[in-house]
Amino acid sequence: MPQVQNWQIGREMEYPYEDAYPERQFAFVFNINRCIACQTCTMACKSTWTFARGQEFMWWNNVETKPYGGYPQHWDVKLLRMLEEANPGRQTWDPDGRFEGKTVFEAASTREGPEGHQRALGYIPTDEEWRFPNIYEDTPTGGDAHSSRGAYDPDGTALPVHRTWFFYLQRLCNHCSYPACLAACPRRAIYKRSEDGIVLIDQKRCRGYKKCVEACPYKKPMFRSTTRVSEKCIACYPRIEGKDPLTGGKPMETRCMTACVGKIRLQGLVKIGEDGSWVEDRQNPLYYLVKVAKVALPLYPQFGTQPNGYYIPPRWVPRPYLQQMFGPGVDEAIDRYVMPSRELLAVLQLFRTTQRIIFRYEIEEGKKVYERTVDGKTWAMYDDTIAGFDQAGNEVTRVSVEEPIHIRPERYVNSI
Ligand code: SF4
Ligand code: SF4
Ligand code: SF4
Ligand code: F3S
Repeated sequence: MPQVQNWQIGREMEYPYEDAYPERQFAFVFNINRCIACQTCTMACKSTWTFARGQEFMWWNNVETKPYGGYPQHWDVKLLRMLEEANPGRQTWDPDGRFEGKTVFEAASTREGPEGHQRALGYIPTDEEWRFPNIYEDTPTGGDAHSSRGAYDPDGTALPVHRTWFFYLQRLCNHCSYPACLAACPRRAIYKRSEDGIVLIDQKRCRGYKKCVEACPYKKPMFRSTTRVSEKCIACYPRIEGKDPLTGGKPMETRCMTACVGKIRLQGLVKIGEDGSWVEDRQNPLYYLVKVAKVALPLYPQFGTQPNGYYIPPRWVPRPYLQQMFGPGVDEAIDRYVMPSRELLAVLQLFRTTQRIIFRYEIEEGKKVYERTVDGKTWAMYDDTIAGFDQAGNEVTRVSVEEPIHIRPERYVNSI
């Protein structure tokens, strides 16, 4: 099997196809700490793309409550268990951030079926498991990471880590660099676009084999019983192509991104080099958050698909749980988020200030507005201003670290 470089696991790995990379890659950063599980993102997607017959249980974007929720139910627990059975006791990372275990592609050969072994280790969820998009909403666990559902600890909420905890996980297709759905489809009905890395199912080629549903570790392709073919998130590609009249031909963020009430989402198109790595683009906010500040981490990087969704981990959740979910780098990411640098604090203000995709930012320094000591270290806040620019270099947003206060004139006091 060909070998490809996967930077998220720090090594080469097996993948059924030779490497091929897009010029730019659809990617996003979600700040879990800010999500309020309002599901506006979920409904924005549903009301745009999956409101027809046969799509009733189809949620391309979903927000689930961890540790007990999941859509489909148990998607991650089941796969983690299958990987563990395939490679017992060896699904580990070395101290340098290299994954020593087996990815879904490498573990596939351990499961032989009547048609030979799978292309990527996986399973097809039951109908029952697809039925509840937000089962166990707001259900906590208490005491430690492995205690029982709904349990509370009387001293549950002291930081740095809460003993009673849950958190929201926002999910959509990761438009992976090494998509397992694409690798598994015998019809070659799935393709990854060379201009933006978006992964699509060709509805005309698909014959409903469901190998994509089985193989995707994130369970994001979904079978539609009325048409007998599978569908998945299309990354709202008309918006990415600048087809929405609102942005005058410039790339625009997707429906689920722009609708986000909690301002947790920032989406972009990162430059990809010939070897598949992210080309240095220091002033791109996504490049900065993932590669420079290293405050956002991929979801289950050990699965091996090199997903392009990145998460700022929730600061209050027990670290072993987060390390399993986001790999090494969790402690450092949370440390940087809790005591943000001047630049990081400014970049965090960019989330959800414009519907245009931001390709570059610039910061103008402001005065110091606050200072305090945290864990013996002095931390200061500055009222810097950050501006974001679109693909053509036009300024599309400008926001300061301190929110300005607007006093409503008396004659409007009682109006909206
Ligand atoms: Fe395919 Fe799943 Fe990756 Fe999306 S998340 S590209 S459906 S493997
Ligand atoms: Fe739905 Fe578009 Fe978000 Fe994909 S990117 S989940 S299609 S709203
Ligand atoms: Fe969370 Fe934003 Fe979705 Fe609301 S719209 S559930 S805040 S990601
Ligand atoms: Fe292929 Fe999935 Fe269709 S495996 S044929 S894209 S259902």
